[in-house]
Amino acid sequence: MDFLELARKRQSCRNFDLKKAVDKDLIEKCLDAMILSPSACNAQPYFYHVLEGDLAKKVSGLTGSFNTFAKNAPVIIVLEEENYNLTAKVGSTIKNQDYKSIDMGISVSYLTLEATSLGLSTCILGWFNENEIKRLLKIKNKIRLVIALGYAANGEIKEKKRKSKSAIYKIWEDEN
Ligand SMILES: Cc1cc2nc3c(=O)[nH]c(=O)nc-3n(C[C@H](O)[C@H](O)[C@H](O)COP(=O)(O)O)c2cc1C
Repeated sequence: MDFLELARKRQSCRNFDLKKAVDKDLIEKCLDAMILSPSACNAQPYFYHVLEGDLAKKVSGLTGSFNTFAKNAPVIIVLEEENYNLTAKVGSTIKNQDYKSIDMGISVSYLTLEATSLGLSTCILGWFNENEIKRLLKIKNKIRLVIALGYAANGEIKEKKRKSKSAIYKIWEDEN
């Protein structure tokens, strides 16, 4: 599958098959891809908590009434923000840029696209009870995202709704 095909195939899954567990080696492949993602000054300012079983159920139950579908995902991943390394911290301060969010977003892209390439499905969740999840997992830093991972009960590819090309990019012509 070429990359564009993979990008078209990845979609937010809201109909996980509760009965279909995910093999550990597939979870590890997703994490291996995530580790290979680039980050500012190679700081990798994040930590991935991978949950299954009761703990996954407890956390998915803390993702709000919008996200009740997450209860059917056999794997729940909690993304904890970590510190920059020194160079990324200095760079982010001098340039007034939030590299952490960028780094985390890229790493989640790698993970979700690898999952797609393995026939798995994901949904990135930005709505969750941060304090309760922190308490449950004894996490001190900020939790930035929760990711539901599993197999879709129905693998149908939905039509992608996106902004028009002109609203989202412009290829500038060189006037010289
Ligand atoms: C940072 C972030 C937070 C999101 N939070 C949620 C969420 O809480 N619940 C949900 O169902 N989808 C959530 N989504 C999924 C988006 O709604 C989805 O990516 C978008 O509508 C595009 O659809 P697609 O992923 O199927 O291409 C989130 C996505 C991102 C990147």
